[in-house]
Amino acid sequence: MLTEQDISELRALKSRYEKPQAILLPVLWRIQERNGWIDDAGMNLAAELAECTKAHVLGVVSFYTMFFEKPMGRHHIQVCTNVSCMLRGGNAVYEKVKDCLHIGHMERTPDGVFSLEEVECMGACGGAPMIAVGDTFFEKISADDAVSIIETIRTSGNVPAPKRFAQLPDLTREAI
Ligand code: FES
Repeated sequence: MLTEQDISELRALKSRYEKPQAILLPVLWRIQERNGWIDDAGMNLAAELAECTKAHVLGVVSFYTMFFEKPMGRHHIQVCTNVSCMLRGGNAVYEKVKDCLHIGHMERTPDGVFSLEEVECMGACGGAPMIAVGDTFFEKISADDAVSIIETIRTSGNVPAPKRFAQLPDLTREAI
């Protein structure tokens, strides 16, 4: 659960906003960072800190797919199968990862190391197909690349370096 420091930081953040409910998302993020998911106690705490009802918290947690309502793996793998990724082999990547982990959508491995989620667009379409392991993005990957990322995590416990290809446009004045 949250530390005293977490709570005092979140209270300080709350003081910057007109309405206390504005801090609900930061509170939920911090709880998930600490616990790995939002449990019942976390929802009560979030309701208290954001001065709203628990029903409101539950509505927010269940609306945003990035919040977990059950324990997930230490390494949560998201595989995008939306249009850009699907056209470039995202479904094959997803099937291979499923076979490799022997789990399906929103399940976790019995050892608690991995969980899997098939996701909609994660905003990395320029690097399709992509997967994410936690916050680390891997773009333009093949099904075999995905398996090798999983094997690296299994053997070393570490997530390999990200692989990003999408280029943001240069919007500096000089470029215009
Ligand atoms: S469609 Fe996969 S990241 Fe956008």
